[in-house]
Amino acid sequence: MQETLLKIREVSKHFGGVYAVSGVSLNIKGGGIWGLVGPNGSGKTTLFNTILGLHRPDEGDIYFNGKCINRLAPHQIYGLGLVNAFQIPRLFSRLSVLDNMLLAARGHQGDTLLNSLFLRKGWQEQEVELAGKAMEILETLELVHLALSPAGELSGGQRKLLEVGRGVMSSPTLLLLDEPAAGINPNLGKKIFQGIEDLSQEGLSFFIIEHRLEILFDFAHWVYVMDKGKIVVEGKPEEVLEDPAFFEVYLGV
Ligand SMILES: Nc1ncnc2c1ncn2[C@@H]1O[C@H](COP(=O)(O)OP(=O)(O)OP(=O)(O)O)[C@@H](O)[C@H]1O
Ligand SMILES: [Mg+2]
Repeated sequence: MQETLLKIREVSKHFGGVYAVSGVSLNIKGGGIWGLVGPNGSGKTTLFNTILGLHRPDEGDIYFNGKCINRLAPHQIYGLGLVNAFQIPRLFSRLSVLDNMLLAARGHQGDTLLNSLFLRKGWQEQEVELAGKAMEILETLELVHLALSPAGELSGGQRKLLEVGRGVMSSPTLLLLDEPAAGINPNLGKKIFQGIEDLSQEGLSFFIIEHRLEILFDFAHWVYVMDKGKIVVEGKPEEVLEDPAFFEVYLGV
């Protein structure tokens, strides 16, 4: 049996009178791709932000690796290996794709930026190791041919792939992605998910919000469906697709 990585128990978050998240419980176990879907405004992003410590839950508890993280600050949660790929500090468009990957590695952010750019001698060994890791990830994401290109020259889809890659560089245990395939063409969207699947086979877990159900359902092995702040259906994609409650949510029957 896989370990439960993330355990959410009866979590609620309201903004004034709006219950954005209302009594949500769910489990994410180690490995694989876990999906979170639901109509606009159903509370998905609020749930992610609550998990990541950007909002404090009004009710309920969140555990990561058995430790209650309700009251931890975002950087502490990040420190535990629970990472939102799209929240890592922004891309530097004039730096190469590879340098952007290196800057996302743990211990190479913020105050070490200058060191990592200009004082390379002292830590070359570590850099070589990280560069090897970065190139491997870029290869999985089919970006390796762009490693030395400025990040600013990437297309929208390639940029998304790079952001996923930077998330992976931070050595997370669980990577949260809020709509990785939004705003890019379906083929590239699929390619992003293929890259994510390859990375998940190396033991990394993903929890992914996605409106492109036709792509997500091909890759996720478990899907949670949210509506009006609650989880209303969960299961394997093929089970969810057969659940009348799923259609009620999407068709508003
Ligand atoms: N900071 C906030 N202050 C007040 N209300 C908020 C805030 N953030 C979200 N909400 C409200 O909470 C509800 C859930 O929003 P949320 O962004 O979590 O939905 P979502 O499922 O991510 O939607 P989408 O699919 O459009 O991204 C909405 O009614 C939204 O207006
Ligand atoms: Mg959202």
